[in-house]
Amino acid sequence: MACDIAHTSDLHLTGLSGLGWRQLAGKRLLGYLSWAFRRRREHRPEVLAALRKDLEAAPPDVLLVTGDLTHLGLPDEFSEAAAFLRRLGGPERVLVVPGNHEAYARSSYEEGLGRLAPYLPTEAPRPTEGPPAWGHFPRVDVRGEFAFVGLSTAIPTPPFSAAGRVGVPQSRRLEAMLSELGKEGLFRILYLHHPAESGVVRPRKDLEDRALLLDCLEKTGVELILHGHAHRSVRSRLRIRGEDVWSLGVGSASAMGLEGEERRARYHRLRLERERGGVRLTLTASKWDPESRSFAAADAEDLGVIRHARAVDQTVLDSGN
Ligand SMILES: [Fe+2]
Repeated sequence: MACDIAHTSDLHLTGLSGLGWRQLAGKRLLGYLSWAFRRRREHRPEVLAALRKDLEAAPPDVLLVTGDLTHLGLPDEFSEAAAFLRRLGGPERVLVVPGNHEAYARSSYEEGLGRLAPYLPTEAPRPTEGPPAWGHFPRVDVRGEFAFVGLSTAIPTPPFSAAGRVGVPQSRRLEAMLSELGKEGLFRILYLHHPAESGVVRPRKDLEDRALLLDCLEKTGVELILHGHAHRSVRSRLRIRGEDVWSLGVGSASAMGLEGEERRARYHRLRLERERGGVRLTLTASKWDPESRSFAAADAEDLGVIRHARAVDQTVLDSGN
């Protein structure tokens, strides 16, 4: 069995038109000024239109959106983000986790993440002492032998901070979920906004409780990690339970790249294909080409075979035949 994934992140798709000053208290005012002076020229609707076209031309089995759909996390931005997601596909195909911009300032579930409701897990949020969004996460969506586990690292933070946190309640649920999915022999793909590995972003933008997450993963194992947030593509290997696990970050899907080519818009296509001994991972990066004003795919790269439980069992069965 194979699965084609498209991984997009940091779409920052909202326009912020017609905003009143009353909506711009505190950190949001600073964020608005950053948008007015720089970000609105960087994150462009024409790039997102080209992204949509590219995805429509070859629809993936699963489209992952690892957060930062908005700029300031305002109610109208969430509604605009939900409308954009609807154009990309239904919730059975489009899987979303929030980023730090969705928690730009503290807001209620109804005025915030709740407006993305069709794209959140359907069960009621669990009680949590953390931000409202945490109650829905981790989310699990199983497609054949592939389990997509989405984690929220979105928390309200002070001005100039873009940090993230997993939190103890969520990490406990994550541990239980990954253990269960591992026992079932599923191939587990963890997706989150902030990088699970250190050194990718500056400390003020980093995951505050990385040790908690890595401890959890060391207990349970995981086959693949995908993230955004850095606005450039990064590849790391995390040593987990004696295996080198890929942690793949994708750049912003809407950026013109005003600060350099490496920050220009891109998204990843990941093909997971079962073969003897594991699942082969192939990565194809598609980048925004300002000349043709469309996304152009680079050559596919073979990232090797990832071992996992069911594949090992299957090898035993195969060799017995
Ligand atoms: Fe971010």
